[in-house]
Amino acid sequence: MAGNRTFTMIKPDAVADGNMGAILKMIEDAGFKIISMKYTRLSADLAGKFYEVHKERPFYGELVEYMSSGSIVAAILEKDNAVADFRTLIGATNPAEAAEGTIRKLYAKSIGENAVHGSDSDENAQIEGNFFFSQFERF
Ligand code: TYD
Repeated sequence: MAGNRTFTMIKPDAVADGNMGAILKMIEDAGFKIISMKYTRLSADLAGKFYEVHKERPFYGELVEYMSSGSIVAAILEKDNAVADFRTLIGATNPAEAAEGTIRKLYAKSIGENAVHGSDSDENAQIEGNFFFSQFERF
């Protein structure tokens, strides 16, 4: 059975461009409940750990630099079928390929600066939520 939680980040480009509120509204309007949320900033070291699965990929260095370049919003979200429904809401990794009306189609600048993160599995949703929030912050 699909889990009911996912994890998201609003990435530095979207926060810097003043799109945080509009993106949170899209998330709420799509039926996601915000369980935990923080406005924070990742060090390069922490960004590197978060994206460790990509460390052999050619874009890893740029990704870490970008994700530690400014403030972000991290949040745990709840909804039936959360992981898949949230991936649908954000759209394809590359905004040029993202469907109309998706968050990335509306707000992403490029495949690297793509406005939002969404977990790709229930297991990763839990790992990523635990990365940012203690057990007292995700009841
Ligand atoms: P990935 O997990 O493939 O995408 P998604 O965020 O849609 O799950 O990649 C993680 C992030 O790495 C992606 O959001 C942006 C960055 N990235 C690049 O900068 N260049 C690339 O070619 C790819 C595939 C990803």
